[in-house]
Amino acid sequence: MQGKMIWQKKNCGACHQIYGLGGFLGPDLTNIYSAVGKGPMYIKAFVTAGTPVMPSFHLQEQEMTELLQYLRHVDASGKSDPKQFRVNYDGTIAN
Ligand code: HEC
Repeated sequence: MQGKMIWQKKNCGACHQIYGLGGFLGPDLTNIYSAVGKGPMYIKAFVTAGTPVMPSFHLQEQEMTELLQYLRHVDASGKSDPKQFRVNYDGTIAN
């Protein structure tokens, strides 16, 4: 998967978590793709422009598309916040 390589090459994980794993300077991005008021254009804006505490990245259109595909895939496959999990009486996690 190309998008994951971009995530690693650009070191997004130094400051951001996926599934709760990664650096803690920035927020967890596991569910950013489907978050209300966020999503692909929002992600693109942050990556392209940066903020006072996040560097900007100059990705090619193709790289950006792949990075967004990776984040969409991650979003569809898990939840970021274990505190929101419902735990069954036997200790397993409910969906
Ligand atoms: C040096 C640390 C650092 C790196 C590296 C970094 N970020 Fe960030 N990022 C941040 C911080 C800190 C914020 C919070 C923004 C703020 O408060 O200004 C942020 C915010 C964001 C947001 C908005 C999150 C939200 O919930 O509003 C997105 C999306 C994002 N980063 C994506 C990325 C991606 C993709 C990469 C890799 C290409 C990346 N970041 C690399 C530090 C970083």
